Parts: sequence; C-alpha cells; structure tokens
Amino acid sequence: MSTASEASLAPLSSIATIGQHEGETVRVRGWLYNLRASGKLLFPIVRDGSGTIQGIVPKAAVSEEVFETLKNLTLESSLTITGTVRADSRAPSGFELDVADVSVTQRVPDDQPFPITLKEHGTDFLMERRHLWMRTPRQSAILRVRATIMRAAQEYFDTNDFVRTDPPILTPAACEGTSELFEMKYFDEGNAYLTQSGQLYIEATALALGKVYSFGPTFRAEKSKTRRHLTEFWMIEPEVAYADLGDLMVLAEEFLSHIVQTVLAKHRADLKTITGGDEKAAKLEKIQAPFPRVSYDEAHAMLEEAFSKGLVENRHTYGDDFGSPDETYISNQFDRPVMVHRYPAAVKAFYMQPDPADASKALCVDVLAPEGYGEIIGGSQRVDSYDLLKQRILDHGLPLESFEWYLDLRRYGSVPHSGFGMGIERVVAWVCGLEHVRETIPFARTLNRIYP
Ligand code: 4AD
Ligand code: MG
Repeated sequence: MSTASEASLAPLSSIATIGQHEGETVRVRGWLYNLRASGKLLFPIVRDGSGTIQGIVPKAAVSEEVFETLKNLTLESSLTITGTVRADSRAPSGFELDVADVSVTQRVPDDQPFPITLKEHGTDFLMERRHLWMRTPRQSAILRVRATIMRAAQEYFDTNDFVRTDPPILTPAACEGTSELFEMKYFDEGNAYLTQSGQLYIEATALALGKVYSFGPTFRAEKSKTRRHLTEFWMIEPEVAYADLGDLMVLAEEFLSHIVQTVLAKHRADLKTITGGDEKAAKLEKIQAPFPRVSYDEAHAMLEEAFSKGLVENRHTYGDDFGSPDETYISNQFDRPVMVHRYPAAVKAFYMQPDPADASKALCVDVLAPEGYGEIIGGSQRVDSYDLLKQRILDHGLPLESFEWYLDLRRYGSVPHSGFGMGIERVVAWVCGLEHVRETIPFARTLNRIYP
C-alpha cells in the first residue's frame, strides 16, 4: 500500500455530493452494502447514509492486501474507502469509484453475518430488526423524505409568521376520544394522559399570539390494526385566531402543496429508489393548490351513485362517517387531495363549531390524500360561544373541572378561530407510496409492537 499514507489524506466526501469531486481522489466513510466478484475484479458497493456508490477494484491496480481485504469482507462491515471519482452514466448515482485503498473499522464476523440479506424477508422478521433494516437503501430513502417533510412543514409556518408554541405531552383530560387515551398515575393529582393532540392548548396560545403551531409526538391507544394507525405519531397543528373554515381550507391546500413540492425538488432519486419508477413523481407534480372542495352531502351523493352503478361494494349510510373504502372511492375521483367539509356534527369532536346554515353539520374539513391513502388532515372551526361549549362538554360526558381553563378562552375575548392537525406518517406513506405507516417512522409503535 505505497499510496496509503498519501491516499489517507484525501478529502472526505459524502456519496450524495461525490460528483463535486469528479477526477479527484476522495475518502468515503461508510459500510459495505454489497460485494460482487468477477475473476480479478471486485465491485464493492459502499453506503454512507447519503447514498450508495459502486467501487471498481482490479487486482492489478491495488496491493495484494487491499484486494484480499475487500474480497473477504463481510456485508455491513464498517470501512473507509479511498478512490478516484469517475462519471459513469450507467451508475445509479452517476459516479463510480476507482478504488486505491481500504481501511476496515469493524469487520462483521463470518459466523454472525448481517441478518438482512438482499433476498426477500417477511415484515415481522424485518420489524423485529428495524434497527438494522433501516440501513437498506429503500428504508434510508424513506427516512430522508420524512425528514424533508417535517422540515418543509415547519418551514411553511415559520416563514408565514406563525409562532411555534409547544403544548404539554402529559395532560389531565382527553382531546379526541376518551376510549383512545394512554393513562398513567400522576403523583397525588390522580390520572394523567399522554396527549392525543395539542389542539386545546394551542387554542390558548392562538388567542395570545394570533397565528401559532405545534409540532410533536401524539398518542392514541387505539385498538386498531390498520395500515394507517400508529399508537405514537407526529402531528403538526396550526391554530389561527379570527380564521373561519374557508380560511382554514386555503391554509391547508397551500401548506400541503409546499410540502409536496419541496420533496419533489430534493428527492427525485429517493422517490425512485422507494417506488422503483418515476410515476410517483409525475403524480406529485400535480399537487398544487387549489384542491377540490366537496361537502359531506356531495360526497355521500357520489357514493350513492357509485353504489347504484356497482362501483362500491357497501352502501354508505347517510349520517355515518366514511369508511376506508368510501374515502378511497372519493379520493380516486381526483388527482389531488380532496377537502371534504361539513360532516354531521354527531360523528365529530365536541369542540367543532356548528354550521350556521344547518346546525346538524360541523364546520370541519378532512383532507383525503389521493390514491386511497385516506385522511391526512383533520381540522375545524372551533365553538366560540361559552354556553354552547359548556353544553358540549357536558353532553360528551367530559369532566367539566378539567376544562375550566379551556372555557376561559370563551369567557375572555372569544373569537372565531380554526385549526387542523396533519399526521406526518400518513403524509410520508402517501408521498412515498407505502403500503403501511410502520415504514414511515424510525421505530413504529403499533398495537402489538413496542420492540426494538
Ligand atoms: O383527525 P384527528 O384526530 O384530529 C385532531 O387530533 C385534531 N385535534 C387536530 C386539530 O384540529 N388540531 O388527527 C389529525 C391527523 C389525522 O388526519 C391523521 O393524519 C393523523 O392525525 N392521525 C394519525 N396518524 C397515525 N396514526 C394514528 N392513529 C392517527 N390518528 C390521527
Ligand atoms: Mg380525523
């Protein structure tokens, strides 16, 4: 390894930015993702978290030691590889590395190989090894897209004069449904619950600061085993004083368009790795405001017609919430998210303002993602009358004493105000075209999984 000391001084490069070093010798620190050998040629593929790159190692071009080290290296061993960057239009990243040197940080033992191989594994096997599964290119790409979705969501509010206010995670009462609460003992104060939504608290901060948002983990002790439900998920929630339902829908469509277009600008290669093609990106290009608006009544009429034509299996009952197949049918009629508004108040939360045109309806909106991904945003205008809100709390059997502070917001300078919550994982699943939300978060928490 005559060039070793010289080569080890080569500048470090990430794989994602290696194109900036074309023709130069660089060092890449990472892990051995795959290795092919063909006679006197080795083709190691190295990953570093930002991407993967193939190295070319002709036996004649390197020392015996470098060749033998690489030839016998086990998958997922950590290493630093030094080589010259060469453009290659056939390579997925557009570049290859003519390897000059390698140094191994930790060699995975032969008798305990990395358990995840390139062959197909079952989901349970992979979820049990989630801490290792996330190293594979498709899973890493999903986590990179997730990070961008979270950043873009926050960036939208930060650049539009919203103040981030963080609600508590330990709370004394329910926000959504009492059957979905994670409960714990809280010293001598009785029971506490993990938050289901920061909404009630950011209604307070909105009346203090005008336009606010919160962003954090939320919890639902739901006994549902669907591909859309996690027990712990991340929600971003804006709340705006003086905004009505119409204002809220404009906010939702502009916010979502910003998120999707930010992902497209940065992650075309990742989307291709995840979905195996370019069709997803083409569909996402259409996600631009304005979005279609459909009332609950109109959506019900669409389903009635579909049922009469045999396009949906089950008939939707007027007055009921929409089931998954109903939502899929409705969303399939559009090429962008559809905003379904004014559901029957009876199927929605206690805090929603009644529609002045029909008090049996709530001034609320669910945004349904295209391609059957279901509800990604739920929001509403809030009850602003003290008397009505108090009545609703009692009607829902909620403990009045826990809500006295919330009623204060209607005692002192109450105004119409509106907000929504967007579940990050549902958006990641839709944008990445994933079957199940368990792949959208580093460590998913579901009804029957809390390991690793
Ligand atoms: O519709 P939800 O229950 O609305 C609220 O919690 C309101 N308090 C929000 C607000 O108005 N500030 O939940 C909002 C969103 C859903 O549209 C969905 O994207 C996501 O949160 N969500 C879940 N995501 C994953 N797993 C679950 N169990 C989820 N429950 C809701
Ligand atoms: Mg909802």
